[in-house]
Amino acid sequence: MKKQLHLGILLYGCGHHQAAWMMPDSSIEQIGDVAYYQSLAQLSEKGLFDAVFFADNQSFPAQRDSEMPAFWLDPIVNLTAISQVTERVGLVSTISSTFSNPFTAARQLLSLDHVTNGRVGWNLVTSMTDWEANNHGMDGLPPHAERYKKADEFAHVMNALFDSWETDDFVPNRKDGTIIRSERIEPFHHEGEHFRVKGPSTTPRSPQGRPVAMQAGASAPGVALAAKYAEAVYSVSWNLKQAKAFRARLDEAIRASDRPNRTLKVLPGLVTYVAKTREEAWAKKRELDETLPVADALAQLEFFIQQDCSNWALDEKVPELPPVEEFTGPIGRYETVLEIIKDTDPTVRELLGYLSAGGGHLTLIGTPEEIVDEMERWLKEGVADGFNLMPPVLPNSLEDFVELIVPELQRRGIFRTAYEGHTFREHLGLDPIS
Ligand SMILES: Cc1cc2nc3c(=O)[nH]c(=O)nc-3n(C[C@H](O)[C@H](O)[C@H](O)COP(=O)(O)O)c2cc1C
Repeated sequence: MKKQLHLGILLYGCGHHQAAWMMPDSSIEQIGDVAYYQSLAQLSEKGLFDAVFFADNQSFPAQRDSEMPAFWLDPIVNLTAISQVTERVGLVSTISSTFSNPFTAARQLLSLDHVTNGRVGWNLVTSMTDWEANNHGMDGLPPHAERYKKADEFAHVMNALFDSWETDDFVPNRKDGTIIRSERIEPFHHEGEHFRVKGPSTTPRSPQGRPVAMQAGASAPGVALAAKYAEAVYSVSWNLKQAKAFRARLDEAIRASDRPNRTLKVLPGLVTYVAKTREEAWAKKRELDETLPVADALAQLEFFIQQDCSNWALDEKVPELPPVEEFTGPIGRYETVLEIIKDTDPTVRELLGYLSAGGGHLTLIGTPEEIVDEMERWLKEGVADGFNLMPPVLPNSLEDFVELIVPELQRRGIFRTAYEGHTFREHLGLDPIS
């Protein structure tokens, strides 16, 4: 059997393109309605996705009037509602180790994993903004290194809570008058720099061993954290070169960890514009790019490349930029901008469009065959085990994906034609937790 591809989907407001909400038929009026997310999840399940996935941000969602509030509903509440109208698709919530209490987070995730008989995953992040920090009793976001130290302790405590007792220890015995074999359940008494948790959890072990641990964050400490705790990583790569470099960094971190032989799935973000012809696919992107509020997008670009772009003509090619060695600002994003320009030779407007949908994630535009060629290449090269789909427009781009791309993946024998297992761990083909 050919190596199988895995698919997650990020359900994000009206879609990942910043102009998605402005389209005449957009779903903007529905983003506070749980029925909308339930129907997107049902569509994802029809497409046999491994999981639906919510990113998160814990501050008032719109910092600008034109910004779509994509984080209206709490992810776990939303996933719980989704769990009641789906049967198989995995359910992944982003969890911030900077702001969450591990006892509450583990309790909610484990509860949902019991409710769904093992369909849950969690994506560990250390968060990004001071606005969020201000809602959690902090003056600002703690420094990067400190956030990652806390994340390490957080993940350790989460595993202790997930493993604290077995369902087998729940043996109600009316005759003896006992319910739980309490002699086998010990508190673990964690006392660390950031957390004090006596344990055990209120809930026994998950039907899938533990909820599946994912991680997103690409710095050196982020990758080290993934190597130590995660079973799958949500990564950002614009092209194969970046994906190879990321996979190599991750493999190196796994070799340096205390479990050097383990496997860790890599799922880069993927933005697709697909249609039966290449022209139609490009027209879908063009329509969105032309609707994009240019002032905001240009301001973002100016920040990424640290230069004034106000006199750039939107429909002309992007002027030449200095090489990365001469750049003094944040390198990662600048490198990606240079790679996008090298690979696509875009107009200024096209570049703004690439950055506004996914901002540097792999973006594929074309027919199903063209798109699947590239997805298959990443799979064969061993740089991706699948993708986290980031549809530019919801539900339209997801409908297109399910209708056009999923059958092509199946035709090539690299994607399931029916769910085989029940748990998210089984969908991903991960080892059982012993
Ligand atoms: C692909 C990807 C997705 C992320 N999703 C979220 C998210 O939903 N919420 C959040 O607060 N942070 C998110 N993060 C941010 C990271 O957790 C982290 O806080 C930030 O990127 C800094 O870490 P880094 O320097 O290791 O990349 C994401 C990062 C990446 C790379």
